[in-house]
Amino acid sequence: MAVEQTFLMVKPDGVQRGLIGEIVARFEKKGFKLVNAKLIQVPRELAESHYAELSDKPFFGELVDFITSSPVFGMIWEGESVITTARAMMGATNPANAAPGTIRNDFAISVGMNIIHGSDSPENAKREIDLWFGGETLAYEKAINKWI
Ligand code: PPS
Repeated sequence: MAVEQTFLMVKPDGVQRGLIGEIVARFEKKGFKLVNAKLIQVPRELAESHYAELSDKPFFGELVDFITSSPVFGMIWEGESVITTARAMMGATNPANAAPGTIRNDFAISVGMNIIHGSDSPENAKREIDLWFGGETLAYEKAINKWI
């Protein structure tokens, strides 16, 4: 299985609730590798580009308002099957449907404020990594790699 990269974002609700550390810890403990990250106040243009596929949805304006309301923590994570596995660790979009033990089941109630975003395909992962980080990642060796 090939090593992939994905874009994850702790949304404003997760940042304000002090959940950045909890969320980073889950992906670190799983064995994935953090290869870039930043706390960012999202410009409206960036939020609209990021969610462009949803521009015809009735909640689009509300979603962009939410993402630009307060800083988010954007991250690039790397590892085997990280795109699919990260989505599984996040849980369903609607926290009411998220499996126990997932981030959204553990910390969220509403579909609008559901703590975390994760790329849903290799194509969107590449698009989002380029959009948020200009594709830039940092190379280093994780000491635990031989165990994973
Ligand atoms: S859809 O309608 O199936 O395309 O949408 P979905 O894939 O379930 O969700 C895509 C993102 O839209 C957010 N979302 C909402 N935000 C605000 N209000 C409502 N009602 C709402 N419904 C969905 C949802 O949290 C997803 O955000 P990301 O950041 O991509 O996880």
